[in-house]
Amino acid sequence: HAADRGNYRHFMQKEIYEQPVVVAQTLRSYLQRLEGRVTLPIPESDLSDVRRVTVVACGTSFYAGMVARYWFEQFARVPVDIDVASEFRYRQPVMEPGGLALFISQSGETADTLAALRHARAEGQRIAVVCNVPTSSMAREADILLPTHAGPEIGVASTKAFTCQLAVLAALAANLARAKGKLSEAAEREIVRHLSEAPAAINGALAYDEAIEAMAGTVASARDVLYLGRGTDYPLALEGALKLKEISYIHAEGYAAGEMKHGPIALIDDAVPVIVIAPSGPLFEKTVSNMQEVRARGGRVILISDYDGVAAAGEGCIATITMPKVHPLIAPIVYAVPVQLLAYHVAVAKGTDVDQPRNLAKSVTVE
Ligand code: G6P
Repeated sequence: HAADRGNYRHFMQKEIYEQPVVVAQTLRSYLQRLEGRVTLPIPESDLSDVRRVTVVACGTSFYAGMVARYWFEQFARVPVDIDVASEFRYRQPVMEPGGLALFISQSGETADTLAALRHARAEGQRIAVVCNVPTSSMAREADILLPTHAGPEIGVASTKAFTCQLAVLAALAANLARAKGKLSEAAEREIVRHLSEAPAAINGALAYDEAIEAMAGTVASARDVLYLGRGTDYPLALEGALKLKEISYIHAEGYAAGEMKHGPIALIDDAVPVIVIAPSGPLFEKTVSNMQEVRARGGRVILISDYDGVAAAGEGCIATITMPKVHPLIAPIVYAVPVQLLAYHVAVAKGTDVDQPRNLAKSVTVE
C-alpha cells in the first residue's frame, strides 16, 4: 500500500486531506447547484408518506446518523428513532409497516447493521442505505441506495466516509422535507447554497493542521479526555472521543454539554483536558456556560469554535482552534476535521499504529 499513501505518512492523514474533494464529489451527485435543488435517486412520491425514520448504524456511522436525526426533525418534522445496530436487533423495536429504515455504513458489511437491515425488512420497512461500497451486501439489499463517493477508505478509523455520509444525509433531510411539503423553494435553495460551501470550508479547517499538531502534546500526556458539545455538536463530541480512543488509546468520553453537570463534572481537575466544540450560533452561550463550569473547577479547556466564538470565549482556555465561520447546517461537516486531526496528531505523538490500531478491524463482520 505504501505507494498509495503518496506524500502522506498515514492513510488516515491522506483520507483526512481528501475530504474537500470527496465531499464535493458526493455533493455533486445530490445537488443541482444552479437550480438550487436537491435530487435523490428516488421518486419523490416514495418519501411523501414517510411518517417515521428509523436510523441504525455502528461506530462512526452511528454518529453520522445522530447528526442526521437533528436534520430530519428540524427540516422534515418527521419523528426519528435511532439506535446502534447491536441493540436495535434485540430490543423488539416497534416499526409501523411502510416506515423508512435507514442504515448507514462505510463498508456495507458490518454484521450487526446487516442483520438489523434484514430484521427491518421482515418488519415491512422500506430500506434506505447510505454506503460507501456499491457492491456491498447492504447496497445490494437496499430499496433506496444513497452512495457516498468517498473512495476506498483504508485507515481503520473512519474519516472521509463520515463527512461524506453527513453530506448525503443533509441532502436526504432536505429531500424528505420537500416531499412532505415542509420546505419552500427558497429554503431549499439556501440549503443547497450552504452545502455547496462545505468543501471550501473543509479546506479552511485543514489550514489549522499545524496549530492542532502543536497542541497534540498536551492531550497526548493526559490519561482521560472529555469532549463536550450541544445539538449536532454532541454527536461530534462522541465522534471526537471515539477517534481519540481508537487510535491513541487514551480514555476519552463524549458528553452532551448540558448533561455534564449530572456526572462527568466530578472528574474535572487540571489533569483532564476538556475539548469543547462550540461554533457561534444559537446554542453557543449555553455551551460556553457549561465550559465556564469546567474552568471554575480547574479544567483545562481546548475550545474549537469560529473567530467570533474564540473572540467571545477563548480567554482562559489553554488552547483554541479557530474554524471558518459557517452556516450551522454544515458545521458538523467542517468541525469533524479538527476533531480528526487532533486524534491523528495525538496518536502520532504517542507512536501508535495509526492506520491499524490494536484490536480493531476496518469492517466488523462478526456479531
Ligand atoms: C468499525 C470501524 C469503524 C466504523 C464501524 C462501522 O468499528 O473500525 O471505523 O465506524 O466499524 O463500520 P461501517 O463500515 O458499518 O460504517
